[in-house]
Amino acid sequence: MCSAAFAGSATAAACRPAGELRPVAPRELGTAVATRRAGRPCVVLLDEHLLCDDGRVELQPVGPTRIISLLPGSAAETLQQRFGDALSSILSPEPGAPALLVAIRTALRDAAADDRLLSLEAERRRLAGEITKLNRIGIALSTERDQERLLNFILTTARDFTCSDAGSLYIVEKDASGTKRLRFNNSQNDSLPHLELVKFTIPVSKSTLAGYVAVTGEPVNIPDAYLLDPKAEYSFNPAFDQRTGYRTRSMLVLPMKNQDDQVIGVLQLINRKISRTATLTAADIDNVVLPYDDAALELTLSLASQTAISLTNNQLYEGLKESLVELKQTQAQLVQGEKLASLGQLTAGVAHEINNPLAFSRNNTHLAHERVTKVARRLAVQRWLEAGTGGDPQARVAAGRAILDKLKEDKELGPDAKDVIADLGSMPAPKQLELLKMFFSYVSQSREQKEGSIEEVLARTQKVLEECFIGLDRMAEIVLGLRNFARLDEAQFQNADIDEGIRQTLMILSNNARDKGVKLTSDLTLTRPYACFPAKLNQVVLNLVNNAIDATPRGGEVHVHTRVNGAWVEISVRDNGEGISDANISKIFDPFFTTKPVGKGTGLGLSISYRIVMEHQGTIAVTRDETAGVTFLIRIPTEPKDPGTRTEGAAKAAESP
Ligand SMILES: Nc1ncnc2c1ncn2[C@@H]1O[C@H](COP(=O)(O)OP(=O)(O)OP(=O)(O)O)[C@@H](O)[C@H]1O
Ligand SMILES: [Mg+2]
Repeated sequence: MCSAAFAGSATAAACRPAGELRPVAPRELGTAVATRRAGRPCVVLLDEHLLCDDGRVELQPVGPTRIISLLPGSAAETLQQRFGDALSSILSPEPGAPALLVAIRTALRDAAADDRLLSLEAERRRLAGEITKLNRIGIALSTERDQERLLNFILTTARDFTCSDAGSLYIVEKDASGTKRLRFNNSQNDSLPHLELVKFTIPVSKSTLAGYVAVTGEPVNIPDAYLLDPKAEYSFNPAFDQRTGYRTRSMLVLPMKNQDDQVIGVLQLINRKISRTATLTAADIDNVVLPYDDAALELTLSLASQTAISLTNNQLYEGLKESLVELKQTQAQLVQGEKLASLGQLTAGVAHEINNPLAFSRNNTHLAHERVTKVARRLAVQRWLEAGTGGDPQARVAAGRAILDKLKEDKELGPDAKDVIADLGSMPAPKQLELLKMFFSYVSQSREQKEGSIEEVLARTQKVLEECFIGLDRMAEIVLGLRNFARLDEAQFQNADIDEGIRQTLMILSNNARDKGVKLTSDLTLTRPYACFPAKLNQVVLNLVNNAIDATPRGGEVHVHTRVNGAWVEISVRDNGEGISDANISKIFDPFFTTKPVGKGTGLGLSISYRIVMEHQGTIAVTRDETAGVTFLIRIPTEPKDPGTRTEGAAKAAESP
């Protein structure tokens, strides 16, 4: 830029090849420099004609602008202070053409370098802004679990990136019959900010724009919605524009494809504007709205896909959460089932153990009752005979008849007693007394002969009753053992007789073992109680012995051994069964791992045992024997530190060397 006077001069002509020469008036200089076009470096040739009336220069130094002073000496010096680096060179008021040319070229080169620097800086700032936005998108995509918030955020971001005036999102969903439909789910519009969102669904068909993109999975870029290619399979629905007075022009409709290449939604961007803040007016729409370019297509397509992946992941996450809840419930039910199963085994065992003493106690009681009844009848007969012939004959007959009624009930004497009663009916009283005497004498003698004296019978009855006591004591013992086993009423950490718990457990399982031809043996050597959860420890031994019995289907031996080894109480359960394969050994403590048929094993026994041993700050390990079978070794501290504190991780060892 230069003054009109300078532009006309022959010297000015010399710099024409370097660019456009623009003469300006002194008052226009500042505005002309400020509004120069980007990418056009600017050099001001400042002569005295560009000074205002008051002698000032109307110019603010702007980045890529360089000044060449053509002012007389003293004025040039003040320029130095004011413009600093922007002052490229100071020439005399009328320099020769070569000097001017050199000065202009140097100034132009410097201004061009400044300009490049400025545009690089602007680009850097733009890219940094974009990276920040992309970061924010990445974080939102990976952390936002609320679908509606995520969709609205993505729509806003896509519109920001593309300077879109409006946009909407469709989501693919299935109706009750399983048919896919597109749900109009989100909408944003700068020009109609208070528009109420009305959700609706449309079929997934090629006739609509969103439907076409959902079916084909291909993006559609439309410069003007009202000037569609007549051969296009889709059509633009102007209903929204007609209803609201909005004017849709450029459109970018994109598929939201997930990691499986499935279209799970459609992103629709409308009216790309020259700037995000520009407002759309019907009159100005042609100037303000631009078609979408390839860069916008590329960026939003990837954004749509990222969103789809994130949405699918969210759905998977939700599904996973539900499965986890279900799994926990199933596990809880199975654990409950496991408890019930143990209870079942326990009940069966106890029932069997109680059955024997119960049966013989019952028999003996019957026997004792029978004998006592017989003795009572014999005593009645004896007393009648001993009473002699004196007294009222009628009364004696009546007493005799009463005894006969009782003898009727007797298995052996009953038929004879009935005959005597029948014979008595027609006889006169003295004859009746005679018959009664005869019969009772026979009863007394035959009983004596058969059963021995009454004292002997009573002595034998006493023995029977004593055996009854043995049976009842055994039952009392079992019931007590059962209480000790379960310890339901005192399940806390306490000093308990571990060996006794194991004895009870083995007693309960002995029936099951016997049925399967398995010998249960034990060598229990603990000499004092140790701190433990007795009921839980019993459950562990029950699980291990049960597993050992199951692993010995063709019969064998299961041996339980307890001992103190240093600072540990050791309980080992050894069997000579089928053993555990290499493939299974590392899985046996996993919850639900079982090799047993459905309905037989839940696969929880060992995982529950493992947890219980952890609660004892102990370890559980399994070793495979050279010949056959396995040994499970439980170790719990003789002096536990903080009762109930687990030794996570250290407790389990699939196989110790
Ligand atoms: N003594 C053993 N000998 C051979 N295999 C064993 C022995 N103990 C456990 N296993 C194996 O470990 C698996 C898991 O045992 P665990 O006690 O956890 O479950 P389960 O016995 O199958 O079912 P549950 O105890 O819930 O009824 C068993 O299915 C079996 O394959
Ligand atoms: Mg088991």
